[in-house]
Amino acid sequence: MTNWNDYDRPHHDLREFLERAESAGEVLRISGADWNLEVGTLAEIVNAKRQSDAPAILFENIPGYPAGYCLLSGGTNSSKRLALTLGFPVPKGPMDVVRAYRDRMLRHAPIPPRIVKTGPIFENVDRDDEVDIYKFPIPFLHEQDGGRYIGTDDLVIMRDPEEDWINIGTYRAMAHSKNRVGLWMSPGKQGRQIREKYFKQGKPCPVLISCGHDPMLFLAGGNELRFGLSEYDYMGGHRGLPFDVVLSEVHGLPMPASSEIVIEGEMYPNETMAEGPFGEFTGYYAGGKSEQPFVRIQRVYYRNNPILTMSTPLVPPSDFSFSKCVMKAGMIWDEVERAGLGGVKGVWCHEAGGARMFNVISIKQAYAGHAKQAGMLAASCQSGAYLGRFVVVVDDDIDPTDLFQVVWAMCTRCDPVEDIDIVRKTWSGPLDPRIPRGTSTNSRALIFACRPFEMIKDFPPVARATPELRERIAAKFADILDKL
Ligand SMILES: Cc1cc2nc3c(=O)[nH]c(=O)nc-3n(C[C@H](O)[C@H](O)[C@H](O)COP(=O)(O)O)c2cc1C
Repeated sequence: MTNWNDYDRPHHDLREFLERAESAGEVLRISGADWNLEVGTLAEIVNAKRQSDAPAILFENIPGYPAGYCLLSGGTNSSKRLALTLGFPVPKGPMDVVRAYRDRMLRHAPIPPRIVKTGPIFENVDRDDEVDIYKFPIPFLHEQDGGRYIGTDDLVIMRDPEEDWINIGTYRAMAHSKNRVGLWMSPGKQGRQIREKYFKQGKPCPVLISCGHDPMLFLAGGNELRFGLSEYDYMGGHRGLPFDVVLSEVHGLPMPASSEIVIEGEMYPNETMAEGPFGEFTGYYAGGKSEQPFVRIQRVYYRNNPILTMSTPLVPPSDFSFSKCVMKAGMIWDEVERAGLGGVKGVWCHEAGGARMFNVISIKQAYAGHAKQAGMLAASCQSGAYLGRFVVVVDDDIDPTDLFQVVWAMCTRCDPVEDIDIVRKTWSGPLDPRIPRGTSTNSRALIFACRPFEMIKDFPPVARATPELRERIAAKFADILDKL
C-alpha cells in the first residue's frame, strides 16, 4: 500500500510498522551481511546513495546467527517512514512532516503508558548466569570503534529517584562482555543527571535498555524533551493511545510490552570501564576512549526471532540523520512558538550540520527585535540547545530547506559586523570535535540573514520575475522550455 491514510489505528509494534513500511516500498532486505563492518558500511553506502529517499534496511541471515535474528537500520529515515511512524498523511516532502508535527503539537496532550501483565517481550527471559548478549548479532559499525555496540537505536529507561518519573534517552551502549555494557551519556543529558542522583545517594542506578522497539519511541528517546516529561507520555500523546508496558522482574521498571530485546541491570558508583571510541554523528571519533560507568546485566528479555535496531552515526548523511532534521525542525518550531514567538514560517535543521549545527528559522518580521528573539529562542530552546553551532534567521521569502537560498540571503542581507552575534559558553560536550578535550561548552553564531527591520521599507527589491510574469512567459514558450 503506497497510501496509508486508510489505516484506522496506529501500528501496534515494530513488526507491524515494518509490514506497513514494506508495503509502501520503504524496506530493502539484505541477506548474508556480516555484523563485523559489513552492516555498518552497507548502511553508509545506501544512505549516501539515496540520501533522504533511502529505504530502511532489514539485514537477514547474518552469518553465525539464527536465520530469524535480524538487524534493522534506518527505520524512520525518510519523510514517508516518518509520516508513517507518526501517523501523518503521506507527505510530498520533509516540510509537510515538519508542519504536520507542529500542527499536531498545538493540540498535543501527553498520554501515560498502560501497565499490562504480560507481552511478547517475555517470550524469552535469560536470568543471571544465563545472560549472554553475544547471542544477538551486535554490529561492529566503524573501523575505529572500540567495540561492538548493542545500543545505537536504543532506549535507556530510568526512574528519577527524587522526582519519580521515567526518562527515556538514546545513549550508545557498548558490549564489554557477555553480561556488561557501557553507557556513554553526555554531560547535561537527563539520563546522566538521573544516574548522578543515584550515585550521590551512594546507590546503584537501575536501568533498562531496549534494543529493538516501535520507532515512535526511538524518535522520542533520541530527541530532547523538557525535563520531567516522560517519553512514554509524550509519544502516547502522538499515538493517541497509551503504550502498553510490562514491569521488569528485578527493578519493576516499565518496558514496552512489544519490544524486541530489553536488557535490565544496574550501574554502580565508582565502577567504570574503558568505553569508545565510536564513530559519531558529527562525522568524527571525537569522544575517544574514556572511563564510563557500565551496566551489570541481570536479565535479558527478548522475543522469538528478535529484531535488533541500529543507527550508524557517521559523516552525514547517515541512517538516521535525515529523520533527525525533520523531527528537530518540528520540535524547534513548536518550542519557539510555545515561548511566545509569532510569525514563524518554517524551520529546518540541515543534515550537513548533523541536524544540530546549522539550523535555519524563517519569519515574517513584524517588529524591531523580532529576528533577534527568533534567533535566540531557536538557539536555546530545549530542542535547539545541545551542541549547536550556527542559527540563521531568514525572511519569509526564503525557503529554509534550500541551502542555495539561505546562503544567498546570508550574502546579501547580513552585514557580518552588524548582523552576527556570538553567544559564549553554550551547552556542548565531548562529541564536539572543535572544543578542547575535557571541556563541555562551545559558542553559537546567530546569523541574521534577514533584511534589518529598520531598512525593510527601503531595502532594494528582489530582481526576479513575478510568478504571474514567469507563468505567462513559460506558457507562451512551453514548446521550447519543455525540451530543456
Ligand atoms: C542515534 C542516536 C544516538 C545517540 N547517541 C547518544 C549517546 O551516545 N550519548 C548521548 O548523550 N546522546 C546521544 N544521543 C542524543 C540523545 O539521545 C538526545 O540528546 C536525547 O534527548 C537524550 O535524552 P534526554 O534528553 O532524556 O537526556 C543520540 C541520539 C541519536 C538519535
